[in-house]
Amino acid sequence: MRVFRSVKDLGNLEEALREAAEIKADRFKYQELGRNKTALLIFFNNSLRTRLSTQKAAMNLGMNVIVLDVNQGAWKLETERGVVMDGDKSEHLLEAIPVMASYCDIIGVRSFATFESRENDYEEKVLEQFIKYSGKPVFFMESATVHPLQSFADLITIEEYKECKRPKVVLTWAPHPKALPQAVPNSFAEWMNEADVDFVVTHPEGYELDPQFVGDAKVEYDQMKAFEGADFIYAKNWSCPGVTRPEDYGKILSQDMNWTVSQRQMAVTNNAFFMHCLPVRRNMIVTDDVIESPRSLVIPEAANREISATVVLKRMLEALK
Ligand code: CP
Repeated sequence: MRVFRSVKDLGNLEEALREAAEIKADRFKYQELGRNKTALLIFFNNSLRTRLSTQKAAMNLGMNVIVLDVNQGAWKLETERGVVMDGDKSEHLLEAIPVMASYCDIIGVRSFATFESRENDYEEKVLEQFIKYSGKPVFFMESATVHPLQSFADLITIEEYKECKRPKVVLTWAPHPKALPQAVPNSFAEWMNEADVDFVVTHPEGYELDPQFVGDAKVEYDQMKAFEGADFIYAKNWSCPGVTRPEDYGKILSQDMNWTVSQRQMAVTNNAFFMHCLPVRRNMIVTDDVIESPRSLVIPEAANREISATVVLKRMLEALK
């Protein structure tokens, strides 16, 4: 595997889930695979889980790891070609990428949406340059539009906890004080569409996800109706994806606290598990009692980030041979 950004990059999903279970049973089984290989993890944005779980995954595989926080200690990077660099950006990605690539074997990049332009964000301008100019395998550690390591961990968690063969999984929008990207809901929708689940998305009008991710998933605008009989509730805020009104891209269209996941909505589910990728704003996205309940999976879900990253790095190492 040379690039990891989509569920499709994994090939057979059942096989990938079996591999995840194998690695979870013995996470050091492939320690020799990464000997004398280096993973470079580049962060343009903050992180707790992705940073730690991906480092741990690389160490599970015997790799060396270098972590670069671009905004802390590195030269400020220009990403647009043709710009007269007379501002605060001292180095261009076009030089920085091949230089960074010369010190490693595999590159992970985190670079969020900037909301300056829907076109730029959805074209993945930063990540595409890493793929084009590094000459190394590149995996997405949350880009402008996708967060595949998270969705893989979410799917592993659903597989581990499901109590029926084909559970009902509901992705629900919830309010947040800041405009957040669509990367997590985009990927979650993409991955659930490929998984053996009954998938429903619920959000206020105007928050429709990009068709390339949401596909033919059922969209229900009445949150209570969507929650009926659900086995898993996956909460997340996202800003306007600009599908129906491009001029609203990245805007907050609603802060309706009736959408905060509470016992009121959970009561109509099939005693559903609660999921969120974290970090989460309590009593905006979800009430204290729901996130602290025995049916909350937020911690096992975060722990599975180590497993999803180990599978992805293992496959990239195998492709280097
Ligand atoms: N869920 C997730 O990606 O967490 P971080 O932003 O802390 O890495």
